[in-house]
Amino acid sequence: MPSSTGQTDRVPTGIPGFDNLVEGGFVRGSTYLIAGQAGSGKSIFCMQYILEGLNRGETCVYLSLEQKIEEFLRDMSGFEWGAAMRKYYEDGKLIVVSAEPTSIKDLQDISLAYIGRVQATRFVLDSLTVAALGWKTSSMDPGKVRSEVFSYMRTIESTGATALFICEIPEGDAKKISMFGFEEFIVDGVVVLRYMTLGQAGNRTIEVRKMRRTKIDESIHTLEFSPKGIRVSD
Ligand SMILES: Nc1ncnc2c1ncn2[C@@H]1O[C@H](COP(=O)(O)OP(=O)(O)OP(=O)(O)O)[C@@H](O)[C@H]1O
Ligand SMILES: [Mg+2]
Repeated sequence: MPSSTGQTDRVPTGIPGFDNLVEGGFVRGSTYLIAGQAGSGKSIFCMQYILEGLNRGETCVYLSLEQKIEEFLRDMSGFEWGAAMRKYYEDGKLIVVSAEPTSIKDLQDISLAYIGRVQATRFVLDSLTVAALGWKTSSMDPGKVRSEVFSYMRTIESTGATALFICEIPEGDAKKISMFGFEEFIVDGVVVLRYMTLGQAGNRTIEVRKMRRTKIDESIHTLEFSPKGIRVSD
C-alpha cells in the first residue's frame, strides 16, 4: 500500500523548485487542477510538465481549446526549449490537439481517443473553463454538470495518465480557486498561480493548496519567469 512517506509513485514535473514542495512530484495516475487568473502562467506550467515527460521518453497529449496548434508552438518558441518541443511534436511524441468540444461527452471522446492512440502518460486540458463555458449557459443543472465533470475526470484517471486540468480563476475574486466552486473537490490536488501587482511591479506566486497522499509545503512561493521558463523560488 503506498504511503505518504516516500513509496508513492511520483511523477517529476520538471519545474525547478516545484517537486520539493510535494514530496517529489505529482502522484502517478492522479488528476490536478492548475488554477490561476489570466496571464498567471498556467499554460507555461503545463508545457514544462509535458516537456519533462517527453525528455523522459514518454508520450504526452496537450488538448488546447483556446489555441490553434501553430499558436501553441509559436508561444513556446520564446523559450529555450521551444525548438525541442517542436521537434517532439514533429516526431509524434507530443500530440497537440486543437478542438472545440460541444459537450462533456464530446470532450471525453476526444481526450480518450488521443490518450489511447499514443498511450499517453501525461495529459493536459487547456482549459476546463473554456470547455465548460458552453455547458454553463446550457440548460444543464449545476448538479448534473458537477457529476459529469467528475465522471470525465474519473475516466481520464482510468487511462493511467497523470492529468492536469487548467482552470481560470475569475478576476477580482482572490478567495476563489476555481470557476464553478466544485472542481477543487473532485481532483487529487490543486496548484494555484497568482499575479499580484505591488505598486508598479508585478509579483507572481505559486501555492499548493491540496495534494492527496502528500505532505505539502503550504507556503506561498515566488514564481520566476525567464527564457528558461518558470521556476519556483523562496
Ligand atoms: N519568454 C518569456 N520570458 C518571461 N516571461 C514570459 C515569457 N513568455 C511569457 N512570459 C510571461 O508569461 C505570461 C503568460 O503565461 P501563460 O500563457 O502560461 O499564462 P496563462 O495563465 O496560461 O494565461 P491565460 O489565462 O491567458 O491563458 C505572460 O503574461 C508573460 O508575462
Ligand atoms: Mg493559458
